[in-house]
Amino acid sequence: MSNPLLRNVPAHVAIIMDGNGRWANSRGLPRTMGHRKGVEAVREAVRTAGEVGIRYLTLFAFSSENWSRPEAEVSDLMGLLKAFIRRDLADLHQQNVRIRVIGDKTNLRGDILPLLLEAEETTRGNTGITLVIAFNYGSRDEMTRAMRALAIDVAEGHLTADQITPERIASKLDTAGIPDPDLVLRTSGEERLSNFLLWQAAYSELLFIPELWPDFTREVFLAALKTYAGRERRFGGLSQPTMAVGS
Ligand code: FPP
Repeated sequence: MSNPLLRNVPAHVAIIMDGNGRWANSRGLPRTMGHRKGVEAVREAVRTAGEVGIRYLTLFAFSSENWSRPEAEVSDLMGLLKAFIRRDLADLHQQNVRIRVIGDKTNLRGDILPLLLEAEETTRGNTGITLVIAFNYGSRDEMTRAMRALAIDVAEGHLTADQITPERIASKLDTAGIPDPDLVLRTSGEERLSNFLLWQAAYSELLFIPELWPDFTREVFLAALKTYAGRERRFGGLSQPTMAVGS
């Protein structure tokens, strides 16, 4: 169902879900409560995105740098992601949601990897919104892995160096086959990309909003989409009507 109030809906929205800790601190609660509330915001965001006709929603769930957080918080975040997949997979599948996971899948310990793979496998044939979960993800790590794969192709003689094009690089990224994000949104007022989709966001609109992630309701999402709709995207070209040099 698309929302008649919204025009110019982005095909792909990528979100840096920031501010769970501050949300909890400001209420005198442990940080873990902020992450818990954050999962509820994830559910609402997926629902809203599907409702308004967004085709891809990418969520930065755990960065390759997040391992440096205290062990208890890392294990809490793992637990929440696992619980989300265990509890919500059937529901997401029923909603025709396709799940893709980006990030480094090697060297993951415990049962997180089998769960992520199960989520991808179960929903592979779905044709609704694609929920891209960025887990153990860092853009520089992703690009390094892609460069290594290309270097191997060259070393094995499948490719010459001058056949390396932006399209070939993109095809080796974790996001291969996923269109670049039209909108990259970060909550909590921080204005950084934090190693998120650096290649893919080359022409994305960036939007930094003050709300903390647990407060990211349907209304907040719709307001952000309205702001996006008012932006003019030029992809390095000129705005319309075309302004000729010297005119
Ligand atoms: C940033 O808040 C948020 C995270 C590091 C993790 C986001 C994870 C979830 C919302 C839960 C699991 C995800 C899914 C897809 C079910 P922060 O802790 O950095 O907040 P702060 O900057 O206020 O300290």
